[in-house]
Amino acid sequence: MHIEENISLKPYNTFSIDALASFFISVSSIDELKQVLVLKEYPNKLILGGGSNMLLTKDFKGLVIHINIKGIEIVSENDNFVTIKACAGENWHEFVLWCIDNDFGGIENLSLIPGNVGTAPIQNIGAYGVELKDTFVSCEALSLESQTLKTFTKADCNFGYRNSIFKQQAKGKYIITSVTFILSKKKHKLHVNYGAITSQLKTMHVIQPTIQDVSKAVIAIRESKLPNPKEIGNSGSFFKNPVISKSNFDKLLQDFSDIPSYPVSVGEVKVPAGWLIEKAGFKGKQFGNYGIHKEQALVLVNYGNAKGSDILNLSKLIQKTVKRLFGISIEAEVNIL
Ligand code: EPU
Repeated sequence: MHIEENISLKPYNTFSIDALASFFISVSSIDELKQVLVLKEYPNKLILGGGSNMLLTKDFKGLVIHINIKGIEIVSENDNFVTIKACAGENWHEFVLWCIDNDFGGIENLSLIPGNVGTAPIQNIGAYGVELKDTFVSCEALSLESQTLKTFTKADCNFGYRNSIFKQQAKGKYIITSVTFILSKKKHKLHVNYGAITSQLKTMHVIQPTIQDVSKAVIAIRESKLPNPKEIGNSGSFFKNPVISKSNFDKLLQDFSDIPSYPVSVGEVKVPAGWLIEKAGFKGKQFGNYGIHKEQALVLVNYGNAKGSDILNLSKLIQKTVKRLFGISIEAEVNIL
């Protein structure tokens, strides 16, 4: 076991924030993870996956455990479906591409989402009309308390919009070690109704799309709107899209006739936070080495060497302004550490 000291976490978070971990270890098996978890000398531990949904606002005085457990395995299959278990440390997009290469359908709309397989269920990642929960069967997670593996079924996970049991009752109590999916082998059910996909497929001159085409379309849309974390540090959507009451929305419509919305339930609608932030005048604003992305107001960016605390303060200013202008509270989607 090799524990390093004073390691920069910059390469381990997509926001590229240069915070230090007092101690750091990368684990590549469940056994190794168990051995590290029982170390009494490090009471303060931080579990790190792909680092794609976090904002580090200070150095971490403790042991960072980087989950690097790899492996993809076909558990069972029949003529129509395949069940696949992927380990937590697999990069999400590489896993999606592996499925697409094998013509396994169901997660093509989730192409190019940063992060790892093991962290995907925590916030039930979603994009372009598809969520992780749609193909999720179960996941295995190590209990921090008992050091035993527990299987969480889809029902156990209690998935919601950017939400699951791992953000609620089970928060901080388990480490997901693998996720099992069920994917189609033929007669793939495509989700192309999300506006941008249909028009992108048209641009690509595709009439009868395959899962490979849908993945290509999603990649093209994301590349045009979202900054590549390898070039500009970011964590995707910084805020969740707020859900508000229909009556509240109707009042807003009187002042803002162009406010977009998506139905959620009989009495509720979801409003794109990106629209609210853009209307508040923040889109594309740069404050020194950090700011708001010019193509998508929902994304805060680090142009290089920004401090996490600066980005946090910017997010608070945005929240305050949106609240003042529209009376809507927008909640951070990323974990602030
Ligand atoms: N909009 C603006 N200005 C902006 C951005 C958006 O006015 O700067 C408005 C437009 O009306 C647009 C609408 O918001 O039509 C929706 O925008 P978009 O389709 O880009 O999606 P989003 O609601 O901004 C969500 C997810 C994204 C996901 C896309 C596509 C959340 C918090 N974000 O964004 O997820 O890729 O839908 O499905 O739900 C992520 O979680 O990191 C992420 C990128």
